[in-house]
Amino acid sequence: MSEVDSSGSAPSSPRPLPSKFSLPLIGETLNFIKDPGGFMIRRSHELGRVFMVNILGKKTVCLVGPEAFSLLLDEANAQRKGANAPHVEKLFDPHAVPFLDGETHRRRKKLLMEAFTPAALEEYLPVIEQIISRYQKRWEKLGTVALVPELNAMGFSIAATLFTGADPEASAADIETAFGQIGAGLLSIPVAIPGTPYARALKAREYLLGIIDKAIAAHEQVPRKDVLSRLLSARVGDEKLGKDEVRIETFHFFGAYAAVIGGLSMLAKCLAEDPAVAARVREEISREVPPGPLALATASKLGYLDRVCKESRRVAPTLPITFFGQIKRELVFEGFRIPAGFSAVGCIGATVLEDRTYPDASKFNPDRWLNPTEQQKAAWIPHGGGVHTEGHRCAGEALATLMLKTFAVLLLREHTLQLLPGQDLSPTKDKLFATPAGGLHVRLGPA
Ligand code: HEM
Repeated sequence: MSEVDSSGSAPSSPRPLPSKFSLPLIGETLNFIKDPGGFMIRRSHELGRVFMVNILGKKTVCLVGPEAFSLLLDEANAQRKGANAPHVEKLFDPHAVPFLDGETHRRRKKLLMEAFTPAALEEYLPVIEQIISRYQKRWEKLGTVALVPELNAMGFSIAATLFTGADPEASAADIETAFGQIGAGLLSIPVAIPGTPYARALKAREYLLGIIDKAIAAHEQVPRKDVLSRLLSARVGDEKLGKDEVRIETFHFFGAYAAVIGGLSMLAKCLAEDPAVAARVREEISREVPPGPLALATASKLGYLDRVCKESRRVAPTLPITFFGQIKRELVFEGFRIPAGFSAVGCIGATVLEDRTYPDASKFNPDRWLNPTEQQKAAWIPHGGGVHTEGHRCAGEALATLMLKTFAVLLLREHTLQLLPGQDLSPTKDKLFATPAGGLHVRLGPA
């Protein structure tokens, strides 16, 4: 038995993890599926920064706060192999990067990161801008608009263009529908009987893999300036991605776009709720951004907008948890025993919304990032934690940040955002990637 006490307290008489009553067999799975984000936050308020829940057939230790979360970042403590629910592995593919460990993971991750270098992002920017502009023109004409469904359509149009070479002027409604079904399947009781959400998700998966296969064949013939071509041509030393690996990861990237859409809608909500912040962003844009296409170097100079986008992902997290790991050796944390073999998960929402790390944590305050403490930096885990190439931190973080910034620049350069009254702005409960529940109805006015 190997013991680690990250808190420095005596490991001689560790206590069992705090937990609440749970039903036989099913445990607390139904409560978790109904509202994963709210469930984890409630439990952390009741039980503390490390606690046990019984979900998806496994005893799972939930880790809240940067110290507890960092246990997951050490591969001596936890592995991904066999740690996630079989239906989640099946939908993403058991060989997708979130489920890999050790050298196999590092090799894959380094190759994937080749698609997110500054040079790569620079290449993607024109098409991202083109599609966002196309949607904004539509919103201008409409005047008032429910942003969540619009951002969903816009996000999947960008994803289809970057990942399969689709026409940036066309909608990607079929892909959007298919990923809606996959998202519902991820958060369902996985029974593959025709008509169930899980069966629909499996069908949607096959449909999308068909689109990806065609795109790979076309990109092999004629490379393009997009993510798929970058993946196909990625090289680290003598290593390259096999066609199967490109197929699996491209599928996962589409799934990750649901998180981008969540991030965009939460950013829009924060800006619409706080006109003073929006005005400061607009002022920075008019000072720093010359007319014409946005350059990556210009986007990188927008310090206030950077803080705004960082803070919106903290105060309104879209993903409640990381992928699951499995504890490899017995650990002791703050006097609690975490047994080997338990599942483990990083609680994103509970960590980024903790008052003890971020005073007045529910307040949207971009300037808290002017002089953040080490603790605050370590607790900013909307994309996971650690080093991208070494661990499981989100591969698409830089692309997601660029998307958020481009969206804000194009929107606020010419418009004000006004929230329509009487709507529910709280995060959705029944989706894995949360968005404002009422759909985020706004009126666009001239800047
Ligand atoms: C605002 C948008 C996004 C958010 C909030 C987000 C969040 C996350 C989170 C929480 C993880 C899991 C970390 C863990 O399990 O420890 C993750 C992993 C990942 N994300 Fe993202 N993501 C976003 C956008 C993207 C985009 C645009 C892409 C790619 C196009 C992407 C690709 C990935 C990949 C490949 C992984 C797995 C990394 C690994 O296991 O090594 N993500 N992301």
